[in-house]
Amino acid sequence: MANLEVDFCGVSLKNPIMAASAEPTLNADNMRRCMDSGVGGVIAKTMTDSEAMRELTTRSKWRFLNERHEVCRGKVPRAFTLYGRSGLAFEEPEVFLKEIREALSYASHCGAVVIGSIASTEISGWVDLAKRMEDAGVPLMELNFGCPHPKLMPGVRTGMNVGQDFDYACEITQAVAEAVDVPIMVKVTPQVIDLVEFSGRLREAGAAAVTLTNRYLGFIPDIETGKPLIYGWAGAGGPWTKPLTLRWISQVHCRYKGDIFIAGTNGAYDWRDVVMFIMSGAHVVQMCSAVMAYGYGWLAKQVRRLEEFMDEKGYERVSDMWGIAADAAIPYAEMPREIARLNPEICTYCKRCLRVCFYGAMQDGGDRLWVREDRCVGCGGCLSVCPVAGAVEVVIRQ
Ligand SMILES: Cc1cc2nc3c(=O)[nH]c(=O)nc-3n(C[C@H](O)[C@H](O)[C@H](O)COP(=O)(O)O)c2cc1C
Repeated sequence: MANLEVDFCGVSLKNPIMAASAEPTLNADNMRRCMDSGVGGVIAKTMTDSEAMRELTTRSKWRFLNERHEVCRGKVPRAFTLYGRSGLAFEEPEVFLKEIREALSYASHCGAVVIGSIASTEISGWVDLAKRMEDAGVPLMELNFGCPHPKLMPGVRTGMNVGQDFDYACEITQAVAEAVDVPIMVKVTPQVIDLVEFSGRLREAGAAAVTLTNRYLGFIPDIETGKPLIYGWAGAGGPWTKPLTLRWISQVHCRYKGDIFIAGTNGAYDWRDVVMFIMSGAHVVQMCSAVMAYGYGWLAKQVRRLEEFMDEKGYERVSDMWGIAADAAIPYAEMPREIARLNPEICTYCKRCLRVCFYGAMQDGGDRLWVREDRCVGCGGCLSVCPVAGAVEVVIRQ
């Protein structure tokens, strides 16, 4: 049986799957339901001293959208978008800390780890919230520099407004790291130029981990009414964000190779994605949107299937998969030259490949197709559209 245990920032987790800080972790009751699903960790909804960010949650709006970015009715499809405007924890810190203590007490019985998340608008506030969160007993703490909504709220200097100001973000990180003993994870916004450099700077400032990444800000018009969905700009995410997130995770992994822990979030839909996040270099994977779409049972299923996958593949430990795909990535200039090969025995002459060959390599011989080798660059477009397995192959050019 595979061993799913992971070490994250010196804290032992029974498996690498976490419930991300959001509505599924809004209070002790919700966190308990996450823990009952068997996840290794639960990150509490972000506790804040910003009244504006607490008040915003009382007017939360979010919608599951289908592939055409229309509001879903009934079943939420695999390729959904979760589009929403919402704030941080409802309660003032003093009250919210009771929820944290309750969740911590439950966690001690079920072997899960409860992680605090905080957000302030002043450096002194970040430090104060961090100390109070540490006093409550959390073994790890996340600083939320990624929340997209403050960007739309003039004067609210938190979340993404911090994550886009690297100097200020490092100042906060250093102040918090000096004030508390628990390891700090910094959750960043993806809407910046360079998260590799930034991760290094956060590490120097005292972060033990980076959480890559929070959600994007988006905009979706309703073409029937000519108005924006849910009143205007909003946070956007869903399974489609995965490759964008994995780009940053893999690049941070390749640059720092374990000198900084990585928590992955933004686009993990199921256990397959958890594996992809880990193979890209994430130590743990946080999930939110899929849980909001399919319920807490979704988490339990992913923990179970992750274990089955590891058993099937012979991975004994999560660390056997850690960063292996990122480590195997090669630069553009080192890619081998390839070429398409057609198998005329099974090609059905459907000509789909002809439509996608923009290099003029796929040729129509009247009753069969053939590849003009001097023109074929081996792009593989033909392979992707061919409906018959094995009719097209892409091989290394000899
Ligand atoms: C409705 C909603 C509320 C969220 N609230 C928070 C929050 O309070 N703190 C935080 O750090 N991230 C928050 N997030 C971001 C999630 O924690 C998570 O990082 C993000 O949704 C990407 O992961 P996913 O693709 O699994 O959804 C929220 C996301 C959603 C959809």
